[in-house]
Amino acid sequence: MPHTIDSPSPRSPGWVQSLTAPVARALRHPWVESIVRLSAVEDSLQALHPLMSLTEVRVRVVKVVDETALTKTFVLQPNALWAGAQAGQFVRVRHEIDGRRVERVYSLSSRPGAQRIAFTVKRQSGGQVSNHLHNHLKVGDVLTISQAMGEFVLPSELPAKMLLLSAGSGITPVMAMLRSLQAQGYRGDVAFVHVCRALDDLIFARSLKDLAARWPALRLVLHFDESEGRFTPDTLQHLVPDLNERSTWLCGPSGLMDAVHQLWVDLDIAAPLQSERFVAFTRLPATAPGTPVQVRFLASQKGFATQGSEPLLVQAEQAGFGPKHGCRIGICRSCQCVKASGTVENLQTGEVSSAPNELIRLCITAARSDVTLDL
Ligand SMILES: Cc1cc2nc3c(=O)[nH]c(=O)nc-3n(C[C@H](O)[C@H](O)[C@H](O)COP(=O)(O)OP(=O)(O)OC[C@H]3O[C@@H](n4cnc5c(N)ncnc54)[C@H](O)[C@@H]3O)c2cc1C
Ligand code: FES
Repeated sequence: MPHTIDSPSPRSPGWVQSLTAPVARALRHPWVESIVRLSAVEDSLQALHPLMSLTEVRVRVVKVVDETALTKTFVLQPNALWAGAQAGQFVRVRHEIDGRRVERVYSLSSRPGAQRIAFTVKRQSGGQVSNHLHNHLKVGDVLTISQAMGEFVLPSELPAKMLLLSAGSGITPVMAMLRSLQAQGYRGDVAFVHVCRALDDLIFARSLKDLAARWPALRLVLHFDESEGRFTPDTLQHLVPDLNERSTWLCGPSGLMDAVHQLWVDLDIAAPLQSERFVAFTRLPATAPGTPVQVRFLASQKGFATQGSEPLLVQAEQAGFGPKHGCRIGICRSCQCVKASGTVENLQTGEVSSAPNELIRLCITAARSDVTLDL
């Protein structure tokens, strides 16, 4: 039987997981670790089968779908350690490019509970990972991903009226939500408004058509900027006059998201608005970057000099280091570490702090004095 990303979950991963998780725990015990190195076990398992692992979620690419000229969906078969996802969540995708490990996060576009999972990537001009995935990732390749994470999800008790609003590649988590609602047989009132340049740019065009055919109650509104003009808050109010009655989920480019958030403030809308950004807030540092400072890593006693206003993650990468990271916008905590000493600025809140031994996220933190990091 051909598998689609909407096929139901098989039973086997559950029992396989129930066996592998205790084995992995046992192998991590210090007594066992002194005899057997977990990494050696991992290497041997991988040599046996690329999906086998006691600790990592590995996925095999089983299908690549060209959604638009710039967007592809990668359909993946996960190994037994995959614990499932809620609609709207994302995964960290780890990949090696020219011998260097890189990570980015991608929302799952597949329906939760489906046997196969999928993420959908839009090429970014000049972007490292999106272009690499488009150019090189093919059927049969194996990737390592994280478990699903993120708070941009539907509640367990669904509201009676909902608005899902997306633009461009922001449709990916929303598509998972739509698939989930349809599969649950949701009987409430859902309006889905999606904005893109033109029909050619519509991601999931075929899936949306199928969804609308199977779910006549879904109110699907597509807005094409090229033929209908720029989508503004006025357009939204015109299309959805009962905004204040709808719990809303929003994902799209920063300009649209800022405008919709402002609309909620201006109209004093009480209905909840949840949103997810794919890119960081751009704000100027509160304190001016000043004299050169030294960033030192405790473990290796290595470091680098800097004086710019960019996040420590970017500066460390420019200096040839590769700190662990995922989303690069402060939401996944992969880059979190202890700042042992020094003054830093949180680039999202503007908060400046000199407290010793505090947790910071390298992707949204800039150094404002010499800094020592427990890395
Ligand atoms: C929660 C979340 C979910 C996401 N889900 C999705 C998804 O479902 N689908 C999707 O396509 N994306 C998604 N993203 C975005 C994704 O994680 C990546 O950020 C995106 O693919 C770009 O990565 P990249 O490596 O190609 O670009 P990067 O190399 O990170 O570059 C990003 C942009 O910055 C520019 N740039 C890079 N370096 C410099 C420099 N030194 N100077 C000036 N400009 C520079 C590039 O030209 C590019 O336009 C999500 C992000 C988040 C946070
Ligand atoms: S990389 Fe995700 S929080 Fe920093």
